[in-house]
Amino acid sequence: MGDASKPVTQPGTKGLFIKTYGCQMNVYDSERMRDVLKPLGYAPVDTPEAADLVVLNTCHIREKATEKVFSELGRLKDMKAESGGRLRIAVAGCVAQAEGEEILRRQPAVDLVVGPQSYHRLPEMIARMARKTGDVLETDFAAEEKFDALPKTRELDGPSAFLSVQEGCDKFCTFCVVPYTRGAEYSRGVDAIVAEARELARKGAKEIVLLGQNVNAWHGAAPAQDSAGGEWGLGQLIRHVAKIGGIERIRYTTSHPRDMADDLIEAHRDVEKLAPFLHLPVQSGSDRILKAMNRQHTAADYLRIIERARLARPDIALASDFIVGFPGESDKDFEDTLALIKEAGFAQAYSFKYSPRPGTPASEMSLQVGEAVKDERLARLQALIRDQGMVFNKAAVGKRVEVLFSRDGKLDRQALGYSPYMQPVHVADGAHLMGRFAEIEIVGATSQSLTGRLVEAAVRAEVSA
Ligand code: 5AD
Ligand code: SF4
Repeated sequence: MGDASKPVTQPGTKGLFIKTYGCQMNVYDSERMRDVLKPLGYAPVDTPEAADLVVLNTCHIREKATEKVFSELGRLKDMKAESGGRLRIAVAGCVAQAEGEEILRRQPAVDLVVGPQSYHRLPEMIARMARKTGDVLETDFAAEEKFDALPKTRELDGPSAFLSVQEGCDKFCTFCVVPYTRGAEYSRGVDAIVAEARELARKGAKEIVLLGQNVNAWHGAAPAQDSAGGEWGLGQLIRHVAKIGGIERIRYTTSHPRDMADDLIEAHRDVEKLAPFLHLPVQSGSDRILKAMNRQHTAADYLRIIERARLARPDIALASDFIVGFPGESDKDFEDTLALIKEAGFAQAYSFKYSPRPGTPASEMSLQVGEAVKDERLARLQALIRDQGMVFNKAAVGKRVEVLFSRDGKLDRQALGYSPYMQPVHVADGAHLMGRFAEIEIVGATSQSLTGRLVEAAVRAEVSA
């Protein structure tokens, strides 16, 4: 969770507070909503109390995420009453898409509802809201129209910028709402992506994170100036983006094993700017469960892919997502998942208890697993991942790594950055490092992060875009 707000109140402007739940695609969308609303005079403020418009950019992936939205709306309703109606409330994101009508029915304080493919229409919607005429619900799937309509300028929140290149999903894993909330797979064109990457570089971005629900399903026609022509995959796009001056590091997330093309794996070997990090969700290590999930690959297929990735880039850090307690998951199936984790060796992982989602095939499957079993499996899986994270992070102690500092740490003057392997790195007295790359000597490790100290005179010289 994060928020795309900043304390910039100026007389005559309207306060905007965007609260973001869920994935990085939502973080990107929140930033773009801020860009869309800027010409209307909306400027980010620090708190919802100071805002004229609060946008909840919501997540529908698990039940808990959805519940949070309704409880937050309850709080906002009171705030709106206290503001004498000045405060307006918008619900965006995947809950808006899936349950828009329901939101308007259950919480009359909500002024407008906008899905993840429709937020470029916010200005018209706000005008209609002010006139009290017309529709306050927009949930069309029009990814292409959205990207064309978004402002060409981008504001940065730090040296690392998200760039959405692909949206939606056609894979229909049986547990997942994404194909219903984000619609069919859509890839943005090369020229639009490169223009946005250049704009980000011009504004000072040093790292670009290419985003998509299935980012490695991205494909697009080669640009006209490419003599070889044909169809590009993500690997070629990465090679192309790597040529943009000022962009020093490239990441991409999240990938599907089925779309792990040779060209992308080779990019890990060839493209120096491509971070040695691969987030490749596997969800389960049991072939029976993978089949029931409609993942369209086996555990062995997955292990072969990561072996190829390690051949291309031996130091690559691997991350994954896991679901425990999918319907019908037996003790043996779960043991297979633990066995896959042991064989693969992950640097980090996200793990979740299966949460039945309305309208998905798995929610109607028999043999739903009880909460107590899910809790126990999750704890065992997380302990194993923690051990692996510890091994991975400890191996960095005593080494020097290049860290891009993007945030303040929790302690005074502490800076937080990320290593090429996506490890959070804390440095004391590092406030001057903010927004920059620096070479850091790692002096300590936990299962989830590193501490380090600045190597004298190792702050990388600024490279102009
Ligand atoms: N229940 C639990 N976890 C889920 N995920 C997606 N849908 C569900 C669900 N219904 C997890 C998957 C996915 C991540 C983004 O969220 O692990 O990779
Ligand atoms: Fe959901 Fe599966 Fe698509 Fe990922 S690949 S977004 S888990 S349906």
